[in-house]
Amino acid sequence: MKIQGSTVLVTGANRGLGLAFAKAFLAAGAKKVYAGARDPSTVTLPGVVPVKLDVTNAKDVAAAAVLASDVDIVVNNAGINGLPSVLDAQADGNLRHIMETNLYGIFNVSQAFAPVLKRNGGGALVNMLSALSWLSLPTTGAYSVSKAAAWALTNSLRNELREQHTQVLGIHAGYIDTDMVASVDAPKTSPHDIAARTLEALERGDSEVLADETSRQVKAGFNATPAAYLGG
Ligand SMILES: NC(=O)c1ccc[n+]([C@@H]2O[C@H](COP(=O)([O-])OP(=O)(O)OC[C@H]3O[C@@H](n4cnc5c(N)ncnc54)[C@H](OP(=O)(O)O)[C@@H]3O)[C@@H](O)[C@H]2O)c1
Repeated sequence: MKIQGSTVLVTGANRGLGLAFAKAFLAAGAKKVYAGARDPSTVTLPGVVPVKLDVTNAKDVAAAAVLASDVDIVVNNAGINGLPSVLDAQADGNLRHIMETNLYGIFNVSQAFAPVLKRNGGGALVNMLSALSWLSLPTTGAYSVSKAAAWALTNSLRNELREQHTQVLGIHAGYIDTDMVASVDAPKTSPHDIAARTLEALERGDSEVLADETSRQVKAGFNATPAAYLGG
């Protein structure tokens, strides 16, 4: 997917990794970048087009697909963290709540924009996943469920959108230096680096980005004995 001259929508583009994506696409010569945000007044990056887009809100998603009908790259970046445990008192609400954003948010936007991408020649759909799509830590129960489901959704979308020539790119990474993991004391990759790896992968026509060492190690851990995802 050629980025120079492209038109891009990034969800959750007001801060964190989404902001880094928006900056990277502008720097790489995108013609237009729509910056989706629950509150568009929080979009402060010059040169982007703010769009009101709560990915869990059907009206917002439908309106965005009309407004941004010229996009050829859609980046499903918006995501939330959850409570540590799947089984604690709030777990049911927590799991359903996190799935609404981290799974159904991607689904909503992908479903609305697939015909837009098709009309515009195929383009690309980029889904922000995680090393935790493949691993649960004691602190990431519900989040890991949501990111595993989003990974499977990404693989299904790749099959369904192949015929319309849409490149579907899943991005896996460990900790990234944003508000989401501000309280985590561990090595983190800069959002700028994750965005850079993603744009390189888009240009190459890749289907998957292992954007940091953690994601590469976790994927390699599938072949370990015992497999890394079995924990312990
Ligand atoms: N940080 C990490 O360590 C890490 C690692 C791997 C993957 N990821 C993934 O990377 C993506 C970006 O996360 P981040 O680290 O940049 O987190 P962040 O700093 O917490 O930012 C999250 C972004 O998502 C937006 N958002 C949340 N719910 C939304 C909704 N319903 N509709 C639209 N936007 C919504 C937020 O908007 P508001 O400002 O309105 O809250 C914000 O712009 C997420 O999918 C996350 O799961 C993060």
